[in-house]
Amino acid sequence: MKSNVLVCVVGARPNFMKMAPIIKALKAVGQPIVPYLVHTGQHYDQAMKDTFFQQLGIPEPDRDLGVGSGSHAVQTANTMLRFEPVLDEVSPFAVLVVGDVNSTIACGLVAVKKSIPLIHVEAGLRSFDRDMPEEINRILTDQISDLLFTTERGALHNLEREGIDEGRVCFVGNVMIDTLLANCQQAVTPDLTLATYGSSLAIKEEGYALLTLHRPSNVDDPDTLVRLIKTVGEISKRLPVIFPVHPRTQQKIAHAGLLNEFSTERVSLLPPVSYLEMLGLMRAARVVLTDSGGLQEETTALGVPCVTLRENTERPITVTDGTNTIVGTDAEKIKACVHEILDSGGKRGRIPEYWDGNAATRIVERLLQRYF
Ligand code: UD1
Repeated sequence: MKSNVLVCVVGARPNFMKMAPIIKALKAVGQPIVPYLVHTGQHYDQAMKDTFFQQLGIPEPDRDLGVGSGSHAVQTANTMLRFEPVLDEVSPFAVLVVGDVNSTIACGLVAVKKSIPLIHVEAGLRSFDRDMPEEINRILTDQISDLLFTTERGALHNLEREGIDEGRVCFVGNVMIDTLLANCQQAVTPDLTLATYGSSLAIKEEGYALLTLHRPSNVDDPDTLVRLIKTVGEISKRLPVIFPVHPRTQQKIAHAGLLNEFSTERVSLLPPVSYLEMLGLMRAARVVLTDSGGLQEETTALGVPCVTLRENTERPITVTDGTNTIVGTDAEKIKACVHEILDSGGKRGRIPEYWDGNAATRIVERLLQRYF
């Protein structure tokens, strides 16, 4: 008898927001698809995992592989070793992965080698920067996927260029925006978030800029990190900055002895915040400075100006249609862009096609057509 189990994989923080609406939509249709949730454990801190599961209403994983951190090879290999027996035991009809993290490619590779069809949600995004670990994960995961769901129309051209048959690609919109729209009402106010973490930053009159940084290219190289820290310090003279710090960045800042330099009266460092706190911080920010892929999309959906501290983006619709500007890491360019936004209000943008809260429903409809 054909299996009706769909193994759904999450590993790192941005995966949780993408998987939540898919699990919900699968449960809403009930049979014939039964989701089986595997968490690889790539992100394991409470602040990076548990609060997200609780707030997003994601059920406890059916399996936690507990792989934790390590080099790319160690993390990927451990994930593969621990994922294979789960597939042997559960015998799913397919494996569904989201995004571009190491857990995505690791579990995808195990599935196809066992002749289990792989489904990739958020396929076809390309930065064309192969120094980015995620770019390798994206290209490889798409190559081995049976069904590819895209968030923006341009992604199809990237996939066709790489020889992927159009018939396997389905434009459904953005599941992360499903989550954002479903949770907007519950977003936590910035005042409450600052108070929760004991910050006395005054934001009432002036508002604030929100900063996130975690890309290896920005935080692993001390020269780049110092340059960014100084630039943020200068921006903070005009506008206070709220900075929830990713564990990787926290380690790099501490290691370089830069904690005191970064944390000032006008720059408030917070630990990683919860999803609903982040949503509240993004929504009320006058400008967001980030190197995250997810925040580029979320700010576009919220209509908040975004300054991307990278040389490229794999999500070009946030620039063409949305509120995103790619500036790189040059201090003068960052400052000029932020001042321009503060003077003029910044790009207004419009909501991209199908970023309407129904992407997960479209995914489930297509899964039913394709496999049942
Ligand atoms: C990963 C993803 C990245 C994604 C990011 C979101 C890859 C290649 N990268 O990067 O695409 O944007 O997640 O957060 O998959 N750490 C903790 N606690 C945790 C998790 C990590 O302290 O719960 C620390 C560890 O020291 C670890 C470091 O953060 O070595 C980096 O974690 P890792 O999962 O390797 O990559 P991220 O930088 O989080």
